[in-house]
Amino acid sequence: MDKIKITGGRQLHGEVIISGAKNAALPLIASSILVNGKTCFTNVPDLMDITSTRLLLEDLGAICKVSKGYLEVEGSSIKKIEAEYDLVRKMRASILVLGPLVARFGHAKVSLPGGCAIGARPVNMHLSGLEALGASISIDHGYIEAKADRLIGNEIYFDMPTVTGTENLMMAATLAKGTSVLRNVAKEPEIVALADALNKMGAKINGAGTAIITIEGVKKLSSVDINIIPDRIETGTFMVAVAATGGDILIKGCNPDHIGGLINKLKAAGTMIETFKDSIRVVGHTPIQSVDIKTLPYPGFPTDMQAQFMALMTIAKGNSMIHESIFENRFAHANELLRMGADISISNGNLAMVRGVKRLQAAQVMASDLRASASLVIAGLVAEGTTVISRVYHMDRGYEAIEKKLSLLGADIERIQ
Ligand code: EPZ
Repeated sequence: MDKIKITGGRQLHGEVIISGAKNAALPLIASSILVNGKTCFTNVPDLMDITSTRLLLEDLGAICKVSKGYLEVEGSSIKKIEAEYDLVRKMRASILVLGPLVARFGHAKVSLPGGCAIGARPVNMHLSGLEALGASISIDHGYIEAKADRLIGNEIYFDMPTVTGTENLMMAATLAKGTSVLRNVAKEPEIVALADALNKMGAKINGAGTAIITIEGVKKLSSVDINIIPDRIETGTFMVAVAATGGDILIKGCNPDHIGGLINKLKAAGTMIETFKDSIRVVGHTPIQSVDIKTLPYPGFPTDMQAQFMALMTIAKGNSMIHESIFENRFAHANELLRMGADISISNGNLAMVRGVKRLQAAQVMASDLRASASLVIAGLVAEGTTVISRVYHMDRGYEAIEKKLSLLGADIERIQ
């Protein structure tokens, strides 16, 4: 099992190029199931989760061609409608094949995705939404089975914004008979990117990025080329890293408009940020001011940046309150940061008080989930001594060669067996 070894104390300087967004690529690749033809994707990040999605589509019968940054999916050969447990357990976002399969084939069997380190992550809103579109849903021996001769457009009201729930139902509604109106939907940039791609295929979707999305069903969708948008969470991770280490970096190939919630908080912490059309210049500043954050659906502060921001706050001047309002168990990184000398106390599961300390100390630590691993990397970059992070497979799910990118910026970081 790989580990990451970091000797802290170096500032970051130079330029870094952002990869395609994992959380845009996953639903976009799933949408190729809707097309009885070929869909070509560019700017595809080289990540474990992307490979898992391709393997799942191939298991369904799709023929895929892969090269650096490129993925082609031939959807006409898909004939299987069952997403097996062994593939789904590796990545819960596999639930995103459910909507497209039942929309195109009238039948789908998808293993119930289990929870994960950050929470139970139920899919009840995905299922009730499909029922609203006329699908009959049953759950049997750990599998979801959805059947519908043809989905019928309808009104769907989400109890709370759900990113993949919105994506699943938006994809399903594109081929339904009649019009669907989805209310209280997620507004993330990844939702807008998916709607843009589906409309390019011939769908009729309006309102993506707002709280109400209207979809007029069409008979079929056609082959298109899709370029994956930049990863706003990778962008934010590098921004927080240089805020912590000090230095001056230019983050290229990103979209500053997608990470406004974080920019606002980093400026309050004293970080100098200059935004351009597709790049951001970030200059670290000391002392780092402590800042309170509450994670919220987009465009609020992103929950996927909470762990990284907590690492920054451990060495800020003063105390900061971190309120995780999206997931019920997303502080696993706090226990490892405590082992590095941070001063954090957690109350009722989703409120953390972080008291800034002068410096963290290196330690052997363990990653528990994707963003927790990024938090530990940032802590390692500033800790005194050499930190070794185990279980970095979590990190490989969502960051393309992060240790190479950080090393090019001057960090003393390497991957070891
Ligand atoms: C997406 O997960 C992202 N994953 C997550 O990123 C991200 O943290 C999350 O959105 C929130 O922004 C992908 O896009 C592949 P939700 P998703 O449905 O869609 C509850 C990362 O690190 N809920 O928006 O699964 C749920 O439990 C990952 O890249 C229900 O109760 O999240 C949570 O409390 C981690 N019932 C809240 O809604 C449902 O049917 C928001 O979850 C669905 C969700």
